[in-house]
Amino acid sequence: MKIPQMMDLDLKDQRTIIRLDLNVPIENGEITSDARIKASIPTILAAQEKGAKVILLSHLGRPDPENIDTRFSLQPVAKRLGELINQDIDFVSNWTESIPDHGNIVLCENTRYHKGEKSNDEAFAKCIASLCDVFVMDAFGASHRKHASTYGAIQFAKKACAGPLLSNEIDSLKKAMGNPEKPLMAVIGGAKVSSKLGVIESLASICDCIIVGGGIANTFLLANGNSVGNSLVETDMVEAAERILQLKQVHVPIPTDVVVAKEFSSEAIAIDKSIDQVEEDDLILDIGPETTNAYKELISKARTIIWNGPVGVFEIEQFSQGTQQVAMAIKDNQGYKIVGGGDTVAVIEKYGITDSISYVSTGGGAFLEFVKSGTLDALEVLAQH
Ligand code: 3PG
Repeated sequence: MKIPQMMDLDLKDQRTIIRLDLNVPIENGEITSDARIKASIPTILAAQEKGAKVILLSHLGRPDPENIDTRFSLQPVAKRLGELINQDIDFVSNWTESIPDHGNIVLCENTRYHKGEKSNDEAFAKCIASLCDVFVMDAFGASHRKHASTYGAIQFAKKACAGPLLSNEIDSLKKAMGNPEKPLMAVIGGAKVSSKLGVIESLASICDCIIVGGGIANTFLLANGNSVGNSLVETDMVEAAERILQLKQVHVPIPTDVVVAKEFSSEAIAIDKSIDQVEEDDLILDIGPETTNAYKELISKARTIIWNGPVGVFEIEQFSQGTQQVAMAIKDNQGYKIVGGGDTVAVIEKYGITDSISYVSTGGGAFLEFVKSGTLDALEVLAQH
């Protein structure tokens, strides 16, 4: 698949829309993590360096376009971006008719304030495409969304290409999955098997070992014949988990001990238990020390690691040990390590190990979608240019 690259194009005086993923967490008007803004800066500055008239587009959150809520405004992002690159940013609320050019970088208000965005309305996509000479897709995190400002605008733009962040994300994922140094391990945690089954199945065909964690591990425990008490579990996924456990080519270890509590709360009393001692009213909230040590040993042998999702409720101190120890083992591993997903990025930030990770993806759903299917909607349509 050949995709045109922004870095190969002449952008001098070109009205260049760069679709970014500036979907950052905001609490009470304050940005709580600016990682996605920072990750977008090299692309913005490179386009500027090439003489482009830079116009930035992004979504933020999941607002209702019928009932505009200003908490989803990109205004705080414009302010933060301006501070980070020390430039004035022209923030434009109404941008669909025309975009004023005062020589500064322009950031347009949330694409999801428009009804046609999520439905990939053709007229809205054409409107976006008409506002630029070149459309740069650099929102890796939204590349799996067939929306007007992603898929649709690429389709109708005179010229469309991939930005450097998007290309870097894809290259890093291909490095981890395409021809990885073996053993290849995946650590897949999170609440639900159903949301990650396709990912686990795809990984099962390339990985030597998959560690499953969190609620996902509970379903695998049940499939293995263990009792999980009152824990979060998806009984309709047990069969799928059984199938994966029977695969010969991939090792999916099952916890031998767990940390349980009678309630899900920060005041809950945590108890280590062997897996066969789990009682009916127990909630499994973390892996136990024996399992943690076994996982650390497996992690130390891997040469490539793909990590998405914590193995326990790491937000609550007494259930955070498993995730912390897994994080430390991944930090100490000297192989190629790629991490994706908001929760996992929060874990590596919490334990201060970000610098030890070979590539930290800006994507959540897009990361998983690429791992699952090896492509993304935006890439398919970019390849048509
Ligand atoms: C993300 O946070 O994963 C991306 O910004 C996509 O957001 P969405 O899941 O709301 O489409």
